[in-house]
Amino acid sequence: MNRAAIYAGTFDPITLGHLDVIERAARIFNRLILAVAVSTRKATLFSVEERRALVRNVVRRFKNVEVDIFDGLLVQYARKKGVRVLVRGLRAFSDFEFEFQMALTNRKMAPDIETLFLMPKEDFSYVSSSTVREVAQYGGDTSSFVAPSVERALQAKLKPRG
Ligand code: COA
Repeated sequence: MNRAAIYAGTFDPITLGHLDVIERAARIFNRLILAVAVSTRKATLFSVEERRALVRNVVRRFKNVEVDIFDGLLVQYARKKGVRVLVRGLRAFSDFEFEFQMALTNRKMAPDIETLFLMPKEDFSYVSSSTVREVAQYGGDTSSFVAPSVERALQAKLKPRG
């Protein structure tokens, strides 16, 4: 059995909530690929290379976790990698509709690929990348939401120019 999975996301930036899902998935699967999306519906603060570098830095301690960039359809990327499980985090009921749509669309396109939902720790159920960006933008403390390296990157990115 191929015990590999892909956890894809925009990761703009990676939060402690994402990390919680990664920790759980890394315990279940022999190999976990974190796939950072190039094209996304959202305008991102960090470039895809920056997002990949931040993810890499945060997951260095996991021996079975690798970080990659992908573009196009996730199921096509999964096929290319020979992986048949997609991991997603489900934080609250509000995530459900979007996740449901995405999982079923992916299943329609690729019935052999399964989506597996993991619930992050309740402490992180309200954390999102966009709120983290907003807190950082106004000079707030993001240390409860992101790793120190991400906090530094946010500060550097959002530092007033001049
Ligand atoms: N902890 C903290 N935050 C979490 C989280 C968790 N465990 N799980 C989700 N989130 C938050 C993120 O912080 C982010 O918040 P924001 O929108 O406020 O910034 C949001 O939920 C989702 O972001 P992320 O987890 O980075 O993933 P995503 O939903 O942006 O990723 C892709 C979506 C890239 C996987 C999806 O768009 C995709 O597969 N794209 C490729 C195209 C494709 O195949 N489309 C067909 C399917 S419809």
